[in-house]
This record gives sequence, structure tokens and C-alpha cells, in this order.
Amino acid sequence: MDLQLNNGVNIPCIGFGTWKIDDYDTAVESVKAAISYGYRHIDTASSYGNECAIGEAIKQSHISRDELFVTTKLWNTVSHYQEAIDAFYESLNKLQLEYIDLYLIHWPAPKDYRDNYQKRNIEVYQAMEYLYKEGKIKAIGVSNFVKHHLEELSQEIEIPIMVNQIEFHPYYYDEETISYCRQNNIVLEAYSPLGRSQVLNDPIIQKIAEKYRKTPAQICIRYAIDNEIIPIPKSVTNERIKSNLEVFDFQLAKEDTERIRNLSHTHGKIGSYPDTANF
Ligand SMILES: NC(=O)c1ccc[n+]([C@@H]2O[C@H](COP(=O)([O-])OP(=O)(O)OC[C@H]3O[C@@H](n4cnc5c(N)ncnc54)[C@H](OP(=O)(O)O)[C@@H]3O)[C@@H](O)[C@H]2O)c1
Repeated sequence: MDLQLNNGVNIPCIGFGTWKIDDYDTAVESVKAAISYGYRHIDTASSYGNECAIGEAIKQSHISRDELFVTTKLWNTVSHYQEAIDAFYESLNKLQLEYIDLYLIHWPAPKDYRDNYQKRNIEVYQAMEYLYKEGKIKAIGVSNFVKHHLEELSQEIEIPIMVNQIEFHPYYYDEETISYCRQNNIVLEAYSPLGRSQVLNDPIIQKIAEKYRKTPAQICIRYAIDNEIIPIPKSVTNERIKSNLEVFDFQLAKEDTERIRNLSHTHGKIGSYPDTANF
């Protein structure tokens, strides 16, 4: 099942996450397994150090390029136009691809550019606009942008932002950013949709899982899908890679979605906050 971005490009409504899969062989095998089970959307980043392995897995999978949606991200050390172009081609070459489906600015306010991050974001985004016009990127987006970062950047750019990849799981719901993205036609992606596995032992999630005869992970993944936020669960375990995709034979009832959402009132963000992150 796909969602459509504001430029008409389709994006599969679930992806495969690859952060911390940094051992080469594990990355190749996990991504090959994911593709063989039916994932058609792979999420990586230059900072994950696994683009070469992912490129190899894609090559070995013999899947037609237009069936696969590949995302990578521009890292925090890049701040100038030409550096962004060079960083993009480095990722493209490592992935052994001719184009990238979605290229994201990984973080909005890197520590080294925090004093002047707006200028940095405009400059790297302009490089992405150039790559988009050249057909090297099919969609442009950002990650970890909250409302004020989105507003600041949107005023200065020509091609509207298509995607924002943010932390989203039962313990964290950034209402302000989510509603801003919805109002502005920016598709949301849920990173850490399992709360980095911290959510899976929650008694309420476990109870809901029993009710639907699903695993806690499947409940979290379905929760994101039911919110129209694209989950990108990560796993290196074959059985989990497979079962995390088995979420299309049920839907959460409204009262269960609300029970899950309520968990965010007593818990919170697991990852770093973009304006204070130490990197
Ligand atoms: N843009 C950003 O700044 C950003 C930040 C964080 C993440 N991301 C992206 O989002 C992806 C997912 O987030 P994440 O890796 O932080 O965390 P996650 O997907 O929420 O959780 C991954 C953890 O859950 C475990 N797991 C997976 N499926 C499971 C299942 N069915 N049952 C029990 N445990 C299960 C995995 O273990 P095993 O691997 O051992 O099976 C791993 O420890 C990342 O890989 C990355 O692509 C992006």
C-alpha cells in the first residue's frame, strides 16, 4: 500500500529501518531478507555507515529499481551547497544507484552550525532542489524538523518539503509538528516506531496485542499506519523482519488507538531533541 507525496510520487506505507546495522554482512543479509519478505522501502543515512552494504543487498536481490523506494540522509557535518552535492554523490555511489527516491536533511540544527542553522538548511536544501531538477532525487524531505524549523525553511525555498521523518511511537506524539505537517501536505514518517523496543513490554500495549492476537511490535506498527505516519521498524532478526510486515490484516479500533495515544501523556521522547542534541 502506498501514500502519495505532494509531487505525485508514491511512497510505500511501511519501510525497513537500518540504523545501528553497521556490521557489513548483517546489513546485507537483513536488507536481503527484508526485500524477500516484501519490504519495498529501505531507510538508511550516510551516518549509519551501511550504504555500501545496502547497495550490495539491493544488487543481490535482483529487484527492479522502480519497485524499490530508497531513502538516505545528509549528515550534520555538511553545511555548504557544493558539499551537499558531493555528499549526495558519495551516498549514491555507495548505494550503487542511479537515483535516490527520497533524500532528507538528517537534523535541522547540527551542533556546529547551531548559531546559524537556518542559513545552513537553506543552502543544503537548495543543493537538493538542484539534484531534484536533475532527476537524481525523486523527492526531497527533512528529518527531526519541528514546526519552527519547517516554517523557517519553507519561507525560503522553491520546491515544497515533501516528507518529515520524526520520532513517533506510543510513548511520543509531537502534536504541534504532526498537525503542521498535515496542514502543509508534508507526509510524515515514524522513526523508532517500536520505541527502540522500550514500548514492547508496556502492559497496555501487551493487552491490546492479546486482544488482536498480534505481537506488541505489530500493534505499534499498525498504530503508526492508522495515524497515516509511515513506520520504518528496524530488525536484524529474520522472524521479526517478517512479522513486522504482517500488519495489513487488521486495524485498531478507535478506542484502542486512543488508549495507545494516551500513553504519550505519561511518557515521552526517547531520542534527542533537535535544538539541543549534542551532535
Ligand atoms: N531520522 C532519524 O534521526 C532517525 C533516528 C532513529 C531511527 N531512524 C530510522 O528509524 C528506524 C527504526 O528506528 P530504531 O532503529 O531507532 O528503532 P525501532 O525500529 O523502534 O526498534 C528497533 C529495536 O526493536 C527490536 N525489534 C524489532 N522488531 C521486533 C519485534 N517484532 N519484536 C521484538 N523486538 C523487535 C530490534 O531488535 P533486533 O534488531 O535485534 O531484532 C531493535 O532492537 C532506524 O533503523 C532508522 O532507519 C531515524
